[in-house]
Amino acid sequence: MEQQASVAQFLRDDHKVIRGLFRQIQVLEDRAHEMKPGLLRQLWMELEIHDRLDREILYPALMSVADEGVRGRIVDLLDAHREMRDGIESVKEISPDSEYMQQKMRELRSNVLVHFDDEEHDILGFAERSLHPAKSRELFDEMKQRKQELLALPYYKDAGPERAQNPRGGEQKRKAG
Ligand SMILES: [Fe+2]
Repeated sequence: MEQQASVAQFLRDDHKVIRGLFRQIQVLEDRAHEMKPGLLRQLWMELEIHDRLDREILYPALMSVADEGVRGRIVDLLDAHREMRDGIESVKEISPDSEYMQQKMRELRSNVLVHFDDEEHDILGFAERSLHPAKSRELFDEMKQRKQELLALPYYKDAGPERAQNPRGGEQKRKAG
């Protein structure tokens, strides 16, 4: 049962993962602190990759078929991406358990969630209407492949879901015998 492979589906799934990470981090704010660094690493990774895939693949593809109105909205989305990158960089520099961090995380979460709503509202329908299904499938494959390449970079390798779920990462191996 293959999910419908379209660029819109890719984006919806991507947004779902990131919304879920924000939710988990929000729930953890007052407890289970040891899990937070792993979840944060995973969140930065997912957000940074989302940023790159949109800028490198999705937006240029949509720009090439967009009318002036849609182009304007894509320019606004690019601005939101710039804010998102700035937000991530500034949050990364703050001590994870400080009050200030919680405040900045709330700001970032709110900005990102608004951006996702805008994206789903402004361009997903357009993508579904304007891209030929074969082209949409091609973009889906391209984004998926690019994401795999980025995930394999040494910079991200340690931030994968397994380590994020398990704060002690590879150290916690089952003892033999
Ligand atoms: Fe985006």
